[in-house]
Amino acid sequence: MASSSFKLSFLLLLAIFICSNAVELGQLKETSMTLYFQDWFGGPNPTLIQITGRSDGFMSYEKFGTVFVTDDPVTIGFDGSSAQVARAQGMYVTSALDGSISHVMISLVFTNEEYKGSTLQIQGASPQFERVREVAVVSGTGKFRLGRGHATFETIHIDVEKSYCVIQSNVTVLHY
Ligand SMILES: *[C@@H]1O[C@H](CO)[C@@H](O)[C@H](O)[C@H]1NC(C)=O
Repeated sequence: MASSSFKLSFLLLLAIFICSNAVELGQLKETSMTLYFQDWFGGPNPTLIQITGRSDGFMSYEKFGTVFVTDDPVTIGFDGSSAQVARAQGMYVTSALDGSISHVMISLVFTNEEYKGSTLQIQGASPQFERVREVAVVSGTGKFRLGRGHATFETIHIDVEKSYCVIQSNVTVLHY
């Protein structure tokens, strides 16, 4: 009898702890930002490299199974010399048999003063040859703990000679 009422009060205490934790999460905040990925897909210092497939230097984005690894500087402005706010580090894998979809698995690793040490995880199917691609923001760390939202990607500049393009990304994330 004593032991079962002890168990009961222990469970009650546990329930109170769980509830108070939930309360401490606080209000959801929405953060939106427009970022620019500075993408060098060739040249002497590439920030995007192809891991599988053709070895003749040509990218085969449309070939099923092709894996790319990236570490793009992410800036606040279109211009590559504008302030860097993050790096976009991760992988892209062409995941549709017909080559139309690229599976995105990247972390936005923030480097600016406001968000340094925080990350956002972007993951999902990107219709890579569409003008605007939308991919889910599945989580985050630091200031973006439990974050979720979505990100659009639009290639707004491409220079084939320099193997350079700029991708505009609008990120909207709900977080605590
Ligand atoms: C992204 O945001 C910029 C700046 O607000 C806007 O001009 C652009 O149309 C947006 N892109 C998309 C795909 O919504």
